[in-house]
Amino acid sequence: MSSPVTERYGAPVAPTAPLNEATRVILHHKSCRAYTAQPVPDDVLNLLIAAAQSAPSSSNLQCWSVVAVGDPARRAELSALCGHQRHIEQAPLMLCFLADLDRIGTVAARHDLPTDTLDYVEMSVVGVIDASLAAQNLVTAAEAHGLGTCYIGGLRNDIGAVRQALNLPDRIMPVFGLTLGYPDPAVPAAVKPRLAPAAVLHRDTFTPPDYTTLIDDYDATMARFNEGQGRDVDDWSLLSGKRVATVDRMAGRDRLLGLMRKMGMALK
Ligand SMILES: Cc1cc2nc3c(=O)[nH]c(=O)nc-3n(C[C@H](O)[C@H](O)[C@H](O)COP(=O)(O)O)c2cc1C
Repeated sequence: MSSPVTERYGAPVAPTAPLNEATRVILHHKSCRAYTAQPVPDDVLNLLIAAAQSAPSSSNLQCWSVVAVGDPARRAELSALCGHQRHIEQAPLMLCFLADLDRIGTVAARHDLPTDTLDYVEMSVVGVIDASLAAQNLVTAAEAHGLGTCYIGGLRNDIGAVRQALNLPDRIMPVFGLTLGYPDPAVPAAVKPRLAPAAVLHRDTFTPPDYTTLIDDYDATMARFNEGQGRDVDDWSLLSGKRVATVDRMAGRDRLLGLMRKMGMALK
């Protein structure tokens, strides 16, 4: 593929402005599911946390926290809770990103203020957004420094058990995990193509795209990608359709609302 943009789409697209160092790193993103045993030095983790904390935050409330799990036994426990994903045990660190409404509750309490808003879905969304923006900043910084990462949505399969494993107080909700370590060069990952920009970009108002062509084209692109990876899998659209077809595919996450309510989030 001739340019990182073409590689990202697995097909030529409209010309873009020239890349710089930052966009080159972002466009080169690929999830890493194979790691060496090399530990992540503390000063590297410190830098990545500073990058995470550099993300914007709704009203600067900073409603997120992260638990960096290095202990192999605890990572094995988390791996089991996340559907037995081998890379959680293999990566030297598993970062557990949390929507943290407890700290801001403590902040309000210092001023003898009520915390009525924390009972609303909106504030939980704020926590999830803050955690997500922070995590993605960390991912980009990690990749810029030669590390690999992989998000782990499986952390929400059983948030009750994860909260116990991580000793989380009420009003602190696991959002996702992120494996972190140095990529194993023997198992290189590849840049996975995305839907054509016309699928996501609208001008001024939303105009339903011609999904027939877009999805057919992307199925063909992903088929080429998977073939190149030696993977024989369903078309992207069939695979993705199956992922949203039935509740059993949620791996326990259909219980999320009930479990969140149990942890002191009323979610009005
Ligand atoms: C919130 C979130 C949760 C994810 N959960 C998992 C997971 O549990 N296990 C996994 O191997 N990959 C997981 N992924 C990685 C996606 O599968 C991956 O980002 C997607 O296939 C695109 O590939 P790329 O990141 O290499 O471009 C997750 C990604 C996100 C954003």
